[in-house]
Order: sequence, then C-alpha cells, then structure tokens
Amino acid sequence: MTDYQIRIAHESEHRAAADMFRGTMHSLPVDDEQWAKLSSRVYQPNRMWAAFEGDDVIGIARSVDSAMVVPGGAQVPVAAVTAVGVRADRTRRGIASALLRRQLVEAGERGMPIAALHASEAVIYGRHGYGVATQERTLVIDRKRARVRNPVTAGRVEFLELSEATRVLPEVYRRFETQRVGMIQRPSYLWATWEGVFSDRPQAPVRVAVYHGEDGVEGFAAYQVSNPWPEDGDAVLHVTDLMVGTDEAFRALWQHLLGVDLVDKAKAWARPLDEPVEPMLVDSRACTTQGIGDEVWVRLIDVQAGLQARKYTPGSSVVIEVVDKVLPENNGRYHVSAEGVERTDAPAGLSMDAEVLAMLYLGGWRASALARAGRIEVADPKSLAAADEVFAAEHIPWCGTFF
Ligand SMILES: CC(C)(COP(=O)(O)OP(=O)(O)OC[C@H]1O[C@@H](n2cnc3c(N)ncnc32)[C@H](O)[C@@H]1OP(=O)(O)O)[C@@H](O)C(=O)NCCC(=O)NCCS
Repeated sequence: MTDYQIRIAHESEHRAAADMFRGTMHSLPVDDEQWAKLSSRVYQPNRMWAAFEGDDVIGIARSVDSAMVVPGGAQVPVAAVTAVGVRADRTRRGIASALLRRQLVEAGERGMPIAALHASEAVIYGRHGYGVATQERTLVIDRKRARVRNPVTAGRVEFLELSEATRVLPEVYRRFETQRVGMIQRPSYLWATWEGVFSDRPQAPVRVAVYHGEDGVEGFAAYQVSNPWPEDGDAVLHVTDLMVGTDEAFRALWQHLLGVDLVDKAKAWARPLDEPVEPMLVDSRACTTQGIGDEVWVRLIDVQAGLQARKYTPGSSVVIEVVDKVLPENNGRYHVSAEGVERTDAPAGLSMDAEVLAMLYLGGWRASALARAGRIEVADPKSLAAADEVFAAEHIPWCGTFF
C-alpha cells in the first residue's frame, strides 16, 4: 500500500510534475531552455491535481478551462483534461482513479458540466465515465497523383513565421471555433501546447500557411516535412492543424499542401470523418484512409446540466436511466425532449452507464447502434427509435484541437 497525498500542485511544482508525466510517456525531461521558452506556458495555474509521496510527485491529472460546442450551437464550459499519468512503479493501485475523481468533483464545483480528453489507450477512461464522443480520420495522399479538380484562383496563400502565427491565429481560430459540434475554445495554454506539438520533429521547420480571401484570413494549415530526401524513403508532409472558415480556404490550402515540392505523401492527422478530400481530387484514390479512431472522449460531470445545455430534435421524447458509479449524484432517470431535460420517476425506456451517455451526447453515435453493441439496455424498443431521433446532431462531431 502506498501512502500518498492528493492536492493541487503549486506552480513551483509544475516542472517536476511535468517531468514525471513525460517519464510515464517514455519521454526525456524537458530542458531548461524549452521550459523557459514554451513548456511553462502550457500549464494553467490551479488545474494540476497531483499525488505526492513525501515531496515526490508520483501521479498527475491536469486540465485547462475551455468550452465545447454542443448540438444546437451553445459553447459549454469543459475541463479539457490532459497529462494523466502515474509513475510506473506506482501504477495499478488506484492513484489515477483517485486523481481523476478529485478532478471531476472539483471541476463540477467550479460549474463545468462536462470534461473531455484524448486517450492514449482505449481501456483507461470508460470506467471513469468518459465515452468516445468524436472520431477522427488520418488521411494519406499520394502527392504526385493528387490534383485538385476545381482549383481556386482567387485569394492567396502565404506563410507566417511561427512567432507571428501564434500572435495572429488565436483571433482567426476564434472566428471558426463554433463551426462544428465538438470544437473547443483554445485558450493561451492550448496554443502553447500547439507549439509544443512541433517539437516532436525538431529538425523540420514549421510552416504555417494562411489563406487570404475576401474576408481576410479564411483558413490556416500548419505542417512539417519529414525526411525530404527520397533516397531515404518517402518524404512526408505532416499536416498537424488545418482549420478553414470557407470552401475556398479549404480547397486553396489543400492545393497548397499538395503542391509543395520534394514531398511524396501528405499525411493529415485527426481530420473529421466527413472531410471531402476525395471528391476534391481528379483521382479520388490518390487519397487513402490510414485509420479511423476515437478522437475526443467526453464525460458528463453534471448529467442534468450537461444534457440541458444541448438542443434536441423536436417531435419525440425519451426517458433514460443513467447509472454513474463514479459520481452517483447523477444516478436516476431523465426525460429528454426538445422542451428540455428533467429528472423523472417515470419508467425508463433505455438504461445506460455514464460512458454510453457520453457517446450519445454530441450525436456521434446512434442509440440503436449502441444497443446493438450490447451497451444499452432496452425496456421499450420504441424508445430506441425516439432516442435516435432526439439525440441526432446537425453534423458529425469533431474537435480538431489536440490537448
Ligand atoms: C493510465 C495510467 C494513468 C493509469 O494509472 P493507475 O494509477 O495505474 O490507474 P488505477 O490504478 O487507478 O487503475 C484503475 C483501473 O484501471 C485499470 N487500468 C488503468 N490503466 C490501464 C491500462 N493502461 N490498461 C489496462 N487497464 C488499465 C487498472 O487495472 C484498474 O483496474 P481495476 O480497478 O479492475 O483494478 C497509468 O498506467 C499511466 O501513467 N500510463 C502511462 C501514461 C498514459 O498512458 N497516460 C494516459 C494519457 S491519456
């Protein structure tokens, strides 16, 4: 049995905690220069829960305050959870569970109805009530075969220096951030994280291309090219962020990405499932899907407030029973309809745990599919059809921000 204490880490403890976390991901500690220049800006004060054994940090779970678009378009406060890690000599004795629970309770007390995270492994977070709410696709495009059918000739694509990009892009992104269900606000801490992503390929320059259209900057793409000398294998242009506000920006930026010389393949990470890259190309098979997987996991911290924050399709209603082992205050039945969400004593047509409710929340999964998978208990089949209708969202949810 390990004797440990859980509390919020002071800012003076962030670096030791960060190094401990990097160790759990098999990375080296951050060096002094990188810490001073960038890493220290990633941490929001008072948002790092840490487990201490004496003065040693043996586990952390931190978050950043943000807001997420839910069906209907509202931006709901979200604890963007990240850097969950327990030192390998202290795992499997409940430390992450304790940290994650404290984090949820405290975020709830601060009025955050939901939490969200990216998971390193699919088996970790379901037991804590997180469910896969959005999915992503990784695309690989054979650059020499790829030609855009209807090229954009208006406007222009230009580079920004990284330092300028970090000054200009937050404002540009703010104009796009409510476009799609699942997208989140990017506070300064997440822009610092964004910069940090490029340090995975320290030898490759970071390119930030912006598209200037009629409305000013209408989109941007950030990328790096690895291995630009073909005799060493494929030269790959890695697209790490691509955000567009207009159709012209979408095509113009892809035209740019596919037009960069000394590149064999463009690889775009974590893209929305319905991004129309193939129909944009003359040879649609130049684009292949390398993988589809879970993107963001969501957790309803306060089920009533979280459900109430989104809109539902008018015409039907459903009573669902929610079983929440981690936050039992959420246990109970909820009547869900376009008129709102209320707790009820009426019998439930469907019963599910917190993880499955989170999968339904943004409209990324249909209740009938989750029932088929054995994840929803169905007392009344009509409720299943009603839930499919009621929970449907206006488009496929996607977050698009790494945290
Ligand atoms: C994932 C991690 C934080 C879990 O920490 P932990 O303190 O061992 O977790 P807990 O002891 O609270 O585990 C609770 C339960 O989840 C299970 N579990 C936790 N992590 C698991 C994993 N990676 N694979 C399978 N099961 C896991 C435990 O076996 C335990 O199950 P039980 O209740 O049936 O005994 C830790 O393993 C870690 O730091 N991993 C490397 C870094 C990482 O991937 N972090 C997540 C980033 S998103």
